[in-house]
Amino acid sequence: MTDRKKDGLRSQAWFGKADKDGFLHRSWMKNQGMPEDSFDGRPVIGICNTFSELTPCNAHLRGIAERVKRGVYEAGGFPVEFPVMSLGESNLRPTAMLFRNLASMDTEESIRANPMDGVVLLVGCDKTTPALLMGAASCDLPTLVVSGGPMLSGRFRGRQIGSGTDVFKFSEEVRAGKMSLADFMDAEAGMSRSPGHCMTMGTASTMASMVEALGMGMPHNAAIPAVDSRRNALAQNAGRRIVDMVREDVRISQILTKEAFENAVRVNGAIGGSTNAVVHLIAIARRLDLDFGLEDWDRLGRDIPTIVDLMPSGRFLMEDFYYAGGLPAVIRAIGDHIHKDAMTVNGRTIWQNCAEAPNYNPDVIRDPANPLTENGGIAVLRGNLAPKGAVLKPSAATPGLMQHRGRAVVFEDIEHYKKRIIDPDLDVDENCVLVLKNCGPRGYPGMAEVGNMGLPPKILEKGVKDMVRVSDARMSGTAYGTVVLHTAPEAAAGGPLALVRDGDMIELDVAGRRLHLDVSDEELARRREAWTAPEPPMSGGYQKLYFDTVLQADEGVDLDFLVGQRGAAVPRESH
Ligand code: FES
Repeated sequence: MTDRKKDGLRSQAWFGKADKDGFLHRSWMKNQGMPEDSFDGRPVIGICNTFSELTPCNAHLRGIAERVKRGVYEAGGFPVEFPVMSLGESNLRPTAMLFRNLASMDTEESIRANPMDGVVLLVGCDKTTPALLMGAASCDLPTLVVSGGPMLSGRFRGRQIGSGTDVFKFSEEVRAGKMSLADFMDAEAGMSRSPGHCMTMGTASTMASMVEALGMGMPHNAAIPAVDSRRNALAQNAGRRIVDMVREDVRISQILTKEAFENAVRVNGAIGGSTNAVVHLIAIARRLDLDFGLEDWDRLGRDIPTIVDLMPSGRFLMEDFYYAGGLPAVIRAIGDHIHKDAMTVNGRTIWQNCAEAPNYNPDVIRDPANPLTENGGIAVLRGNLAPKGAVLKPSAATPGLMQHRGRAVVFEDIEHYKKRIIDPDLDVDENCVLVLKNCGPRGYPGMAEVGNMGLPPKILEKGVKDMVRVSDARMSGTAYGTVVLHTAPEAAAGGPLALVRDGDMIELDVAGRRLHLDVSDEELARRREAWTAPEPPMSGGYQKLYFDTVLQADEGVDLDFLVGQRGAAVPRESH
């Protein structure tokens, strides 16, 4: 036998040895029918798959994986597909976000422990994208992301309906007596009528756009519908490209620079992206030891107009977005705000990818001079109610409520809210501020998407559609309203939110970036003495680990010991 160690490839530490260990690694792989030359020093490409039938948005990813494999073979690589924990937003309880960090650990350890030289991450549903990026970032191998793509536009009784967004609308209409329950049930099948993830500009579409804006995906990664044949072509091209990335030793840390994150924040403003991107991008950046946080979100988003007219803020859906030109057309339109030299996975700069991108439909991708919203970024609020920050998405809010003073109506947790909101005797009017506590990272646990809590029925019956709401929760990217989210520190960590009581006055000033609780420091100190910290949701297992180590929203809700890069070196053999 000859020594197979070639080109310094990481996988050759497993497959390249002419000894007992090399035999063990190769022989068992050969039980899958892999020919001898699979191990001859060609780049081994991991295909990290979040396929699961319990994650409907990712249920088609086995087909995408096959396309990536074709590309890897064509370029002379050796593809190996492996599963990691899949997070389905629509099924997981208490909330998929509770498990994002667990999936990131699975990804990180699976990449590091196995013989691979580069990795393609197959993602789709909301949390799968940040989870896999976080894990891969901590390893720092050559990495490329292929998103599964959005569903085709929903259709119901002759019109387009959007994932999530129209569920919230329909549900409010049923509660207000304007839609029958039978019609409501009828809309289910029309809303989700093809493989793919939510097709509004919700969190999945936002994160797929972030992948493209960060340079981690091929051009058009964000918008090609899941069932469009061009999604398969993109996957095949990604398979070809990752092999070259290994040969060129282009690592994830060379793509995910501070400039890349700044580009992503700009693009998030332009697309009217989900507030969830705030915590996810901060968490990914901190895995790379980058100095990136809430202040960057506020600073970089201020002068960016939202030009993509997609639900929930606008009218159209991801399918329309792709036909209009997709994300490259958006990046071209806001080119003055983009770091043009940022490198992307296809070996070109972001500007080389987007400088000539056509816009086929200015109704969907509007001219920056005629935007959907002038200031489309994320507003970061501070004040005595949110010493470590809170966020609000101006493009989803009601302009008349952006400066508001109102009486607090407080719900101690989500169960209290559900019981109390339907009470006809609840002392509330449309000028009140609804306050929901204990739905943050530790409190729920998992920082559920309940911050856009529905309005009291008696307010809805008046035809009122929006009220100021404040919580430590997140909000579905498909939701809308004047909703203050991610209040930090959260109530369950002893943040001032825990001390708010019915009847307190709260002031929101979005332009001034202020969130103020009009209660004296002395009174707050008195209330704090009566406050008791909650118990962990479970006495052991992952949920206990999560509860004990989770960081607050301003730090990305990662587990404290997962922050940073740990590399991909494994010094010891397994036998
Ligand atoms: Fe998976 Fe919306 S439920 S993307």
